[in-house]
Amino acid sequence: MASSGRTKVVHVCSECGASHPKWAGRCAGCGDWNTLVEDVETSGSSTQPAAPTNRPGPQLIADIGTDVGRPVSTSISELDRVLGGGFVAGSVTLLGGEPGIGKSTLLLQVLAAASGPTLYVTAEESAQQVKLRAERLGATQRELWLHAETSLPHIIDAIEETKPQLVVIDSIQTVNDPALGSLPGSVGQVRGCAQQLVNIAKERNVSIILVGHVTKEGSLAGPRVLEHVVDTVLQFEGDRHHALRLLRASKHRYGATNELGLFEMATVGLVGVPDPSSMFLADRRTGIPGSAIVPTMEGQRPIVVEVQALTNPGVPGVPSRRSAQGLDGGRLSMLMAVLGRRSNITVSDQDVYASTAGGVKLSEPGLDLGVCLAAVSAIRNQPLPPDLAVFGEIGLGGELRQVGHASRRLSEASRLGFSRVIVPTNSPDAEDDLQLLRSATLSEAIAAAGLVGDASATGLRVI
Ligand code: TYD
Ligand code: MG
Repeated sequence: MASSGRTKVVHVCSECGASHPKWAGRCAGCGDWNTLVEDVETSGSSTQPAAPTNRPGPQLIADIGTDVGRPVSTSISELDRVLGGGFVAGSVTLLGGEPGIGKSTLLLQVLAAASGPTLYVTAEESAQQVKLRAERLGATQRELWLHAETSLPHIIDAIEETKPQLVVIDSIQTVNDPALGSLPGSVGQVRGCAQQLVNIAKERNVSIILVGHVTKEGSLAGPRVLEHVVDTVLQFEGDRHHALRLLRASKHRYGATNELGLFEMATVGLVGVPDPSSMFLADRRTGIPGSAIVPTMEGQRPIVVEVQALTNPGVPGVPSRRSAQGLDGGRLSMLMAVLGRRSNITVSDQDVYASTAGGVKLSEPGLDLGVCLAAVSAIRNQPLPPDLAVFGEIGLGGELRQVGHASRRLSEASRLGFSRVIVPTNSPDAEDDLQLLRSATLSEAIAAAGLVGDASATGLRVI
């Protein structure tokens, strides 16, 4: 009865892709408000993405070769770090980020650094625009194919014609397949096109990277559904006013998701930051109250950062302000509450502003002690010693708790020239000539930092 290609109007959530027969203010799938948009759904076999034809039947696990599925290095070490070695042949990666953050720049550099033929499909900019950018980046590799196209069948033809090992689709939201029926840019289109590209990637063993825009709220516009379809989801973040860019994986079928890649946007494109600690400490001025140095961990990577705090007496009768930049605001409020209750420092009448220097966003419990000591240092208007670093998680009881990778944090602090570190009591011994100031509680740490009472009693001299 239902002939192939029959269409019906549905309402699809632009956030999660759930389809509803009637419009509603709230999506029943994800609970978001005002996300349903009208779309056309085509029933019938003609619009179903073709299943890959070369999929093998059941195999014994011992018989399955693992040579395929090994990552191929991109020659961009910060990207390789996040991907756990590089892109895997046949995988599909979604790269999300706000407009202007540098997605196209990064991917052009990836293709230019690849050894074999690669294809850059530009569905937003003209081929000339991309060529000009490539020239500026010195990315005019001979085997880099450019194709300005938005129609999926033509893109698939181009993949078959140029036989690339790496394909970039910039962006997936602007690609459309006329056979799908729904409007270009709709959830149905984005999902359908991505599914077909996934099939192509698996069939031809080619790595495909899809660029996806994010909405103001920071989620991938529309294709949250894409996150299930692709193998890897990368997020490219950063503050447009800073040159620093952070690359993280939020989903990765081929490895860990906790690695952080750091880049700087320069005139020659994105340049990796192999020594972020030195970069974050470059502008540091010692002897200023409200600054604490914390060896923090991002994945397997220790990074020494400066946490800053500024306090100001609040307006009587108005709840005091807690403002965090680069740190979690809720965590800051909690830490200030613990500081007020579990030490003899009064913070309830102070507005507290805390931030990480350099525009990096961090959320890691090891930062807790740094945030508290920076605030105490600001309140007392007394700087911490310049050679002192601190780390540790603070519990609601005011106790200082151990955090992961203590040894690596200590080595990084030592490498950067710090000679004393306030640590939780059960931290491992430091290998080098680093002096560990073990503290069981926040109050002990405040004393160890020389911020309470007689500084000479702790053996520390505050300058
Ligand atoms: P782009 O890669 O176009 O961002 P996206 O694809 O995420 O929208 O990069 C945009 C910004 O990067 C642009 O505002 C200019 C800047 N930029 C540089 O600073 N240096 C460079 O070498 C290039 C190519 C871009
Ligand atoms: Mg772009």
